[in-house]
Amino acid sequence: MSDYSPSPEFAKQAVGKAELYDEAAADHEAFWAARAREYVTWSKDFDSTLDWSDAPFAKWFVGGELNVAYNCVDRHVEAGNGDRVAIHFVSANGDDDRDITYAEMQREVAKAANGLASLGVQKGDRVAIYMQMIPETIFAMLACARLGAPHSLVFAGFSADALRTRINDAEAKVVLTSDGQFRKGKAMPLKKAVDEAVEGTAAETVLVVKRTGSEVDWHEGRDQWWHDVVTPAADTHEAQPMDSEHPLFLLYTSGTTGKPKGILHTSGGYLTQCAYTNAVVHDVHPESDVYWCTADIGWVTGHSYIVYGPMALGASQIVFEGTPDSPHQGIFWEIVEKYKVSILYTAPTAIRTFMKWGPEIPAKYDLSSLRVLGSVGEPINPEAWRWYRDHIGGGTTPIVDTWWQTETGAIMNSPLPGVTDLEPGSSQAPIPGIHAEVLDDDGNRLTDPDAVGYLVLTKPWPAMLRGVWKDPQRYKDTYWSRFGPDNYFAGDGAKYDEKGNIWILGRVDDVMNVSGHRLSTAEIESALVHHSKVAEAAVVGATDETTGQAVEAFVILREDAASEADQADEGGALIKELRDHVAKEIGPIAKPRSIMIVSELPKTRSGKIMRRLLKDVAENREVGDVTTLADSSVMDMIQKGMTAPAND
Ligand code: WTA
Repeated sequence: MSDYSPSPEFAKQAVGKAELYDEAAADHEAFWAARAREYVTWSKDFDSTLDWSDAPFAKWFVGGELNVAYNCVDRHVEAGNGDRVAIHFVSANGDDDRDITYAEMQREVAKAANGLASLGVQKGDRVAIYMQMIPETIFAMLACARLGAPHSLVFAGFSADALRTRINDAEAKVVLTSDGQFRKGKAMPLKKAVDEAVEGTAAETVLVVKRTGSEVDWHEGRDQWWHDVVTPAADTHEAQPMDSEHPLFLLYTSGTTGKPKGILHTSGGYLTQCAYTNAVVHDVHPESDVYWCTADIGWVTGHSYIVYGPMALGASQIVFEGTPDSPHQGIFWEIVEKYKVSILYTAPTAIRTFMKWGPEIPAKYDLSSLRVLGSVGEPINPEAWRWYRDHIGGGTTPIVDTWWQTETGAIMNSPLPGVTDLEPGSSQAPIPGIHAEVLDDDGNRLTDPDAVGYLVLTKPWPAMLRGVWKDPQRYKDTYWSRFGPDNYFAGDGAKYDEKGNIWILGRVDDVMNVSGHRLSTAEIESALVHHSKVAEAAVVGATDETTGQAVEAFVILREDAASEADQADEGGALIKELRDHVAKEIGPIAKPRSIMIVSELPKTRSGKIMRRLLKDVAENREVGDVTTLADSSVMDMIQKGMTAPAND
């Protein structure tokens, strides 16, 4: 037994048992067919498990029919669990805390479905949802699922421009939003961005939830209040079965080119894997646990592990509108104590922030209800892992470090908490039913424990993306060409240790991971170049203690702007202007930590920017091999410039 073996008591009660590995190894498809029938109620059973004949376009549970919202809500009420709390809503200012049972959830989702239908939303129509962490967002998502209208959530921290791109690409017919959102106690506008974004798009209606009560501009004929359309609607709605492959949602994620990719997920396979993983990885016992996933609903973790996984299981969970530091730095632990949270799923960036604030803060609260901790979004460094276990998990709780992606839809690599001897910092191995390997450049499995390779998924899985919206070629090129055509390239570097555990080493493409959010260098560069004073820009992700990576930008100014900056305050005001410009074009999370004005960028002879060298500079390292540079003096110039004071 290692220090991190499951206790016999935990192992005994665990949902995920060792036999699952054997069952999955014996027959991949039979294993998933069994999970689909175990976790999903089908209106019509499926005829075959997997159709991979048109690879990489998969069909799972072919011929089966289900309604996802029925599975997440109605069937729990029919089973006699209508009084169970689905959501303990914890509001940002404590002004709207409420518990919503599954019976109430059923009525709210029915009203929302009837309301959306009255606005003309039909099966197949796309609905954009630009909303914060409030129960109405969940009602809306499930209402869309009920109607078979794929939703496209856009994180409420994104700018109007980012929202417009996503509305246009999905050709969304209706946009849902709220008047405003509370951030650190203050009401911030939200609908305002929608007003800017929908101009000139195909969106016909904007449906607005009143949350902060702030003044909003009103466009007669286009804007509708939720309380006028949804609240008075009938509270029953007959769910129609959908094909197993009916689109459930689109979620946009950063790619290596500037344009975000609309990742498409469908119904039966996605729901199966979300429910199964939530049960066996987080060890959810719906009748007794209080589960809390702290992700924002606008990211995939919120989709799979707030809405679809836990609700398919009929679990009780916390939905928190606020942030970890508001109203005080102990708010997470106050919530754990008050609601006796037993399973907590959060991100390394949050854990590192709690470490920085100090263990005295969680120590003030009774955290003894916690029995499983989870981590997702980026590699968790072993030190943070141990801190999490010691100071939050009482030194005993298992930690499930879960590796997955927007594209994978659900958890892929993770320990099973009742089975696996844990290895701090590593998500270890694929869960039963998943096949992941680390391959070298030539596509061979790595054997040398010191070598570094690429994480590749070698068999299709039920929750896999079904494509990139309107762009099948990009889907093939991005994921299925590097090691293809049957092998999915995840874009992450990885290695094995001597025990065979997989360690994820971060992205190998030009995508950064800031606080667990994927941002593309190209998208930020194009935002910078969009500014009238910028001629050229290069962006890299540099290691950051708290956020994992931070955005560092190198910018060449247009000639007129350059002299202006020289004369004024050495660029201070201009740098602020550029940082704000990125925040406006993409969102505050993309704001560069610092911007350096340079006169040249390091380029190869073919004109490709060598971001690797800029990364060395940004991380204060000795600059690596410069022999392929067209002009090797460039790096000297840039490094000299680095002695200038850092920006805020
Ligand atoms: C990274 C979030 C190490 C990885 C669910 C992946 C991780 C990207 C982990 C997907 C983990 C996520 N350990 N790295 N446990 N979880 N990542 O699409 O680089 O927002 O490719 O999905 O996050 O980010 P996405």
